Amino acid sequence: MNRTDDKTENKQPVGTINLDGAEVPFYYGETIYQVSQRYQSNIPTLCYDDRLEAFGGCRLCIVELEGARNPVASCTTVAVPGMVVRSKTKAVEKHRKVLTELVVSENPRGAKIDPLRGLASQELGELAARYQVKGDRFAGKQSGTTNTADDNPFILRDYDHCISCYRCVRVCAEQEGDFAISVMNRGFATQITTEFNQTLSESACTFCGQCVQTCPTGALGDRKAMRAESLPGPIETTRSICPYCGVGCSVDLMTKGDKLVGIRPAMDGPANEGALCVKGQYAFDFVQHPDRLDTPMVRNDAGQLVAASWDQALDRAAAGFARIRDKYGRHRVYAVASGRAPHESAYTIQKWIRTGFGSNYVDNCSRA
Ligand code: SF4
Ligand code: SF4
Ligand code: FES
Repeated sequence: MNRTDDKTENKQPVGTINLDGAEVPFYYGETIYQVSQRYQSNIPTLCYDDRLEAFGGCRLCIVELEGARNPVASCTTVAVPGMVVRSKTKAVEKHRKVLTELVVSENPRGAKIDPLRGLASQELGELAARYQVKGDRFAGKQSGTTNTADDNPFILRDYDHCISCYRCVRVCAEQEGDFAISVMNRGFATQITTEFNQTLSESACTFCGQCVQTCPTGALGDRKAMRAESLPGPIETTRSICPYCGVGCSVDLMTKGDKLVGIRPAMDGPANEGALCVKGQYAFDFVQHPDRLDTPMVRNDAGQLVAASWDQALDRAAAGFARIRDKYGRHRVYAVASGRAPHESAYTIQKWIRTGFGSNYVDNCSRA
């Protein structure tokens, strides 16, 4: 659910605006941009993230508003009845093209963003393609300096490619409530930084990854996903639910062949709306870890663990549980189910304890 949906739910329109010749209804508090999203106006944005307060910094979303002397930013201009808005004129498109050229000129990679590095967003590259700009007309100074000292295992901070949209800073403050990163200096010296310009590990960062997801240029990269850059084949995405705790965050699993290479939070996930914790975002190596057991193990007479068949292992376990129950009583057996187990397994384990032992001593680590 995005902010536009939230406003429209169970509400009545408060009026209409004329958008590119069509009378379109809007809801209380909506901006022109939010109204336009419902009517496929295709207004470009760059500093906008639907989860965040509108910033009004990039001006890519400008539209002509009848009666206004200059074009207005549609992401910060609230709709009022009777507005006449033009979002597709030659003048606004030219304005947007020049703005895109200026922004791309700050980014040496320009239109080319590696899909794995950018991970969630190809926005700047898509804008450059839309307006067919390379950024060479205004070539010159660039802002931001790559932070090579920050060798944390999760987030690459390659600010050579930063365009100072501040989306990372705002998502950290508004969504994560962490305020781990901020802005220092101004103009071409602008730099995204942490308190005392330290590494993310030394800051308040929780490594939730939301700054990576919102960054429109690939200046922030997912280091774990980047490990798979050389693997052949396209990235496929599969919607799933994070198995770690009981919240049920929606995730998009990114795979190459049979390898899990990265995880993205689902922006439309009802429980998380684009957020994840560090475990849901980055702790997926266990899936393909070589130490992971792929056969049952039982101890032999010498006490050593040896591979066994499922029948042998289950018989051994059943005999052990029965011995404990017979010797000490039914309440000496209890079960704690793994949060990573599927629903069917969770159901089975509580059934096994309740009907097998006549006890309600069963719990799940997701409650921790
Ligand atoms: S990973 Fe999360 S907490 Fe850390 S800087 Fe990015 S948004 Fe803030
Ligand atoms: S690092 Fe990315 S999200 Fe942050 S200001 Fe730079 S371009 Fe924007
Ligand atoms: S998207 Fe509106 S000003 Fe940046």
